[in-house]
Parts: sequence; C-alpha cells; structure tokens
Amino acid sequence: MSAQRRLFFALSLPPELQKQVIQWRADTFPADTGRPIAAANLHLTLAFLGEVSAPKEAALRSVAGRIEAKGFSMQIDDAGHWPGAGVVWLGTRRAPRALLQLADVLRSHAARNGCYQNTLPFHPHISLFRAATRPVAIPPATPDWTLHAKEFGLYQSIYERGRTRYSLLQSWALPAPLA
Ligand code: 2AM
Repeated sequence: MSAQRRLFFALSLPPELQKQVIQWRADTFPADTGRPIAAANLHLTLAFLGEVSAPKEAALRSVAGRIEAKGFSMQIDDAGHWPGAGVVWLGTRRAPRALLQLADVLRSHAARNGCYQNTLPFHPHISLFRAATRPVAIPPATPDWTLHAKEFGLYQSIYERGRTRYSLLQSWALPAPLA
C-alpha cells in the first residue's frame, strides 16, 4: 500500500494580513489562552481531506486544476471561540458566494474520492489558538480586514519534532472576475 499524506485545501494569508493578525492576537488575548498557531501556519481551510493515498491525491489535484472559480475578497470581521474544539478563530460575518462555492465544490470532490467530510456546515475560519478550553473573552469590536483570495492551495500537514507545519504542495490561480 502506498504512503498516505495528511492533506487539505486552503487559502493562505498574504504576509501583511498575517502580520496584522499576529499583532492583534498578541494585543487581544492573554498568553495562557491556548497554544498559538505559528504565523506561517495561519490559513483558512476550504476542505479537509485527511490521510490520502498517492493515486487519490493525483485525482484530487487533477479536479482542482479543472475548477473554474474566480477570485474574491472577503472581510475578516468576526471572531469567536469553540470551547469544545478548543479553537479561537477569526472569520467573516458575510461569507462571499464565491468562497462558499469553492469550498463546496472541493468538499464534494473530496467526498466523491472517499475523503470523509464533516457533516457540520462549512464555517470559514482562521484558527488562532488550539487547546483553548477555558472561557475566552472575545472583544466586542473585532477587526475589519480584507482578504483578497487570488489563489487556493493543496497543503500537507506534517508533524515532526513535536510541531505541526503546513507545506504547500500546489496552488491554483483564482482569476479576477470580469468587470
Ligand atoms: P481547524 O483549524 O478548525 O482545526 C489542517 O489540519 C486544517 O484542517 C485545520 O485548519 C483544521 O481545522 C482542519 N481540520 C483538521 N481536522 C479536520 C476534520 N476532521 N474535519 C474538518 N477539518 C479538519
């Protein structure tokens, strides 16, 4: 049997937004809130694939390359805490249709290729802390940043020496919509 890799499709954060998020997190939450996610690991998951064999990975890369999705902009203007999952997150109050469609098509292809898909509705988010199981005060005024999504990527989650890092395997452009 071929080796499996832990994969997911995601949007990355442009470096400027990454810096703003890290600064806001440091200014907003006490250090003992949970395990902060490394700056380079901040992302918005579109579809989680789990452990994937090489042939399935090839099939999913091929369908990803045929998706005709357009770029979009979204506001990062929401934040919250899921105590059960131990996640503090940033998100959006108004998910753009193009984001929902892209996640939907990726999740459908994932399911058709045998990657189990969570039955919970897709809630686009950027996880900021893990292991945040105690109550967390979310400030009433959250930031209002714009994320311009110009591409999406296939990432591998690699756990080594006690740390998780995400490695970009391939990305696909999301061209600007026609004016
Ligand atoms: P999270 O940030 O909400 O934990 C890589 O692990 C990415 O895939 C993370 O963004 C994580 O979401 C998501 N992920 C991990 N396991 C998952 C699962 N079983 N179902 C859905 N998403 C998952």
